[in-house]
Amino acid sequence: MSIQIVRDKNQIILKTKRTTYAMEMMYGRFPVHLYYGKSSPKPELAITINHRSFSPNYEELGRDFCPDNNFMEFPFFGNGDYRATALRVRDLKTGCDVTDYTYRRAKKFKGRCDIPGIPCGDADEHTETLEMIFDDEVTQSELHLYYTLFPECDVISRYFTLINKGDHDLQIEKCMSLSLDLPASNWELLSFHGAHNAERQTQREPILHGVRRIASRRGASSHHSNPFIMVADRKTTEERGDAYGFNLVYSGSFLDEIEVDQNGTLRVMTGLGDENFSMLLTPGEQFTSPEAVMTYSDKGLGEASRNMHRFTRAHILPPEVFEKRPVVLNSWEAFYFNIDEKLMIDFAKGAKECGMDMLVMDDGWFGERHKDNAGLGDWTPNAQKFPRGLTSFVENVRAQGVKFGIWIEPEMVNPNSDLYRAHPEWAIQAPSREPLQSRHQLVLDMANPAVLDYLKTTYAKTFAGVHIDYFKWDMNRHMSNVYSNALPPERQKEASFRYMLGVYELFRWFRAQFPNAMIENCSGGGGRYDLAMMKYSTQIWASDNTHADHRTRIQYGSTFGYPTSVMSCHVANHKNSCEIPRRLEYSYRVALGGPLGYEFNVLAASEETKAAMKKQIEEYRTYEDLILGGDFYRLVSPIETDCYAHYFVSEDNARILLSFLQNVGDPKQKAYKLKISRAILNATYEDLRSGKLYSGEELRRGITVTADPEDEYAKMFYFVKKS
Ligand code: DGJ
Repeated sequence: MSIQIVRDKNQIILKTKRTTYAMEMMYGRFPVHLYYGKSSPKPELAITINHRSFSPNYEELGRDFCPDNNFMEFPFFGNGDYRATALRVRDLKTGCDVTDYTYRRAKKFKGRCDIPGIPCGDADEHTETLEMIFDDEVTQSELHLYYTLFPECDVISRYFTLINKGDHDLQIEKCMSLSLDLPASNWELLSFHGAHNAERQTQREPILHGVRRIASRRGASSHHSNPFIMVADRKTTEERGDAYGFNLVYSGSFLDEIEVDQNGTLRVMTGLGDENFSMLLTPGEQFTSPEAVMTYSDKGLGEASRNMHRFTRAHILPPEVFEKRPVVLNSWEAFYFNIDEKLMIDFAKGAKECGMDMLVMDDGWFGERHKDNAGLGDWTPNAQKFPRGLTSFVENVRAQGVKFGIWIEPEMVNPNSDLYRAHPEWAIQAPSREPLQSRHQLVLDMANPAVLDYLKTTYAKTFAGVHIDYFKWDMNRHMSNVYSNALPPERQKEASFRYMLGVYELFRWFRAQFPNAMIENCSGGGGRYDLAMMKYSTQIWASDNTHADHRTRIQYGSTFGYPTSVMSCHVANHKNSCEIPRRLEYSYRVALGGPLGYEFNVLAASEETKAAMKKQIEEYRTYEDLILGGDFYRLVSPIETDCYAHYFVSEDNARILLSFLQNVGDPKQKAYKLKISRAILNATYEDLRSGKLYSGEELRRGITVTADPEDEYAKMFYFVKKS
């Protein structure tokens, strides 16, 4: 077992393949964190702080235990730990928020506990869970802390259950799934801020005294911030040094809270937070938090990322629906809303001609959806555009030799729709106030079971007998004026959390109803690029920004927390720029950062362009397994330079795909040395693109690539081991 409960020492030690995590129940009652780092046979107390420094302590213990100066495993509010708290529970009988959870017992078991309604990592034969049970006599509540180990990926997850065992109501006022105290050091924070069209921009900053909050208050994990963060030593590089990664398996508003206290101790927390969440627990009720995951590596940011990639691929992503991931042709950037049956059949023919596998019909096929101001909610095909209905249309598409995918946006409604006219009360809006619109739309109240029933019934009817291979599930606005007509006043602060439960229920319904269709998630691009969405969606549309030169930064940032197999990358034809062969090739090579697709009016493309795309797809197939399942290494950062370089490598180090992507021409023609640390020292590799031979030693020392004076230049190498 990887979990040791050392009863005589009151210690608990968790071991993954290359890391150790340890804690101690001080005085048999306070869970204190000892150590989280590389494997250690004897994890010691990370730090002992004896001074009390104006912070309260337990007199009955000889004033020796001062919560504010200890590494607390899971800090709760009101008992003298002045740092940010993980759990704040209000006793509604007295209005008092003070709790004092005392350790009672621990047990370990194979597998894991499910989290009702919320996605979480799948267990495999190596998965084990530690459950620690605490109680608070005054509130009569029981706290269960869970630590689930995914040892092969060096990932440990954390979540808790709070049970109201008393006779009166309690209210959770702050909920953090994970809290970790780390010793003082030169810590730096990596976070991934952004905006629509500029998701996951990488930022690295020193962590100084005080509190830093990275949050979304939008009801979605959002383009603007991402729940994934990293903490690393100032000297940590891609290949060397301490690096921790933290994430939350949740798609709504979240909070990552980071604090350095008076002693320099760093506290890192992630969870639902306190601004957009509270939960009423009536007697007998219980609540389980979303799952937070953490990883550690002493081999730098790169290895910590790869731990997260392995975890996501092995424990989060749904099983592949197809033998090969389809190369899709999406209609959006080619035609926007101006689509109909005839055009789509021609488009399907065009897709086939270019060697693509699937036509994805994007927005504009249903209701009165001719622009973005109408139709959302009316999920029946527009009769003028599809006079013979969807079934025969899709058969016709498939007769062209391609699969068929369709766009949906289930969570939204346009006020100009039959659905809204019939049920205005199903949209999220505050009583007696005019709701704010965004893209002319309102958010449906997914916390209302009637809304879920309507969506299930409507989609079941519209798609009955229609052969659909793929859904693109979009979500194009964030929540405001949050209020649910389905909830009583005392539960209104639960509305956006319960909304997510409804969304997850509908995702599960889709997967069960259409088991052979894969889901690509999208939220105005990559606005819900999070682990919970990845539980249901094989791919996520990384950004609405399809300019190749902007994509390098978005793609680079996305790889810190998430595997490339999930990052949907399309070659798009802005203002016909891809008719210029160099531009088409550059866009394609940038798109080789993840599963390939196209947003391209192939009907207007020249024969030369079509032939070039066909060749690209053939070539992509030779690398596809590396892009979807290989180990990924970042070499040159597009944040620090105008270039992005990375490589994929097979598990046995025999195949390596190296890409160098240069956005802006460098007049000085700077040279970059790209070191392939995974090359086998004594082996000989052939670059199949140039026919040149390289020794493994040479590859390890580094290939020199000189930046080009022109913009948008790409160089690729495909090294295959010969001997
Ligand atoms: C936003 C998405 O990101 C686009 O790809 C496209 O599907 C539009 N929505 C359709 O309205």
